[in-house]
Amino acid sequence: MSIRIIIGAQWGDEGKGKIVDQLSSQVQQVVRYQGGANAGHTLKINGETFVLHLIPSGIFQDHVQCTIGNGVVIDPEALINEMKALEALGIQFKDRLSISETAHVILEYHKVLDRAKEHTAGGSKIGTTGRGIGPAYSHKTARIGIRMMDLLDPSLLKEKIYRNIDEVNSALKMMHQVPIDNAEDILQQALDWGQTLEPYITDTSKRLYNSWKKGEHLLLEGAQGSLLDLDHGTYPYVTSSSPTSGGACIGTGLPPTSITHVMGIAKAYCTRVGNGPFPTELHDEIGETLRKIGHEFGATTGRPRRCGWLDLVALAYAVRINGINELTITKLDVLDTFDHVHVCTAYELDGELITDFPLRIETLERIRPVYETFPGWKSPTRNCRHRDELPSEVKSYLHRIETYLEVPIKIISTGPAREETITCY
Ligand code: GDP
Ligand code: IMO
Ligand code: MG
Repeated sequence: MSIRIIIGAQWGDEGKGKIVDQLSSQVQQVVRYQGGANAGHTLKINGETFVLHLIPSGIFQDHVQCTIGNGVVIDPEALINEMKALEALGIQFKDRLSISETAHVILEYHKVLDRAKEHTAGGSKIGTTGRGIGPAYSHKTARIGIRMMDLLDPSLLKEKIYRNIDEVNSALKMMHQVPIDNAEDILQQALDWGQTLEPYITDTSKRLYNSWKKGEHLLLEGAQGSLLDLDHGTYPYVTSSSPTSGGACIGTGLPPTSITHVMGIAKAYCTRVGNGPFPTELHDEIGETLRKIGHEFGATTGRPRRCGWLDLVALAYAVRINGINELTITKLDVLDTFDHVHVCTAYELDGELITDFPLRIETLERIRPVYETFPGWKSPTRNCRHRDELPSEVKSYLHRIETYLEVPIKIISTGPAREETITCY
């Protein structure tokens, strides 16, 4: 029996989808627990690339039960499109997909509000994905949100949608934006979604508890990354949910005492998409080269990702707040051609060295990264299947990461495909 949380340990897009798919062969259940269709998780199987936004990345292993937990905000339109795309590929999931009845729903007006807020934010734009995430979680915490179970209750749904639209229109009016005037259409569409999704909507918390009690193996698939966490990230440049390990229990209903492993996924360098501080960001040719070799463009929005060197100060912070006890390093191959590789091991602030990740945005913008330099290995790592086969320079690099963080590296990813993976268990 194991319950392993898979956490993005940076600013998202660390390669969680690939690793969850890879580890799924060994588990019975894969569960998404937070976020929504702002996530884009890429899998490369038999030369084909798939991007999942809401459906757990275990779906391509046909023995795996997949659950969308209560902590996720579900855009039913995006979900149904994703289901259709999987059906078109011949993936059977009728008896393998469950959707929490208490997960909240994203409707068109959440997306309108998200974009309107960004449009009118001027210089303080967050750079959201525009998927309605912030407004849907706001409605959840304001206790006026619509839950999946409400899609099956026409009169309650009508009352809630009309009330929500009144609220949204007041907000839109204050921003001098066009109000929502098609409440009847929105209601009808939501009822249709309810009919389509009804067979999947259930009490997932109880099912997951039973699975744990039976001694099954579960993977809890994080979305986004620790530094985008609403509480622990670079607020306000964060998402509106809790991608960190605490969010896994909240977003599934599984008890904290059930968790056996917390695996942090980090790239061998760093990226961020959207606005907000990024201490090791490179604005030079090296940053461009990382983007080019790493194909660093968003899997959901296609936006270019900002790139920089690995930041061990930030990663140590992620290790601490998540209780990460095993690490996966992805995209090692992207560094294969560099003469030197740099790793940030401290920050300089007003002439002093600090190794704690500052939580104040203004401080994060003022600090300067302090780097250790490693010789490049200048040879391809993609075909290595054992840690022993890696060039000695890579071994030193990985060893430094492990000693700094005091966490063992269990998986090394050297390419997007399933098989381009070194497992060190
Ligand atoms: P996620 O959101 O954490 O699942 O990550 P994304 O799918 O958004 O972004 C990761 C990108 O890197 C995808 O295009 C993956 O196919 C790709 N990828 C994952 N692991 C590796 C790796 O080890 N090497 C390379 N070159 N690409 C990888
Ligand atoms: P995966 O799961 C990278 C970022 C957005 C923006 C901020 C808030 O693929 O790693 P939101 O739409 O959530 O309100 O946007 O969070 N963001 C992500 N960045 N990967 C993600 O997901 C992200 N999900 C949200 O770019 O900066
Ligand atoms: Mg992604």
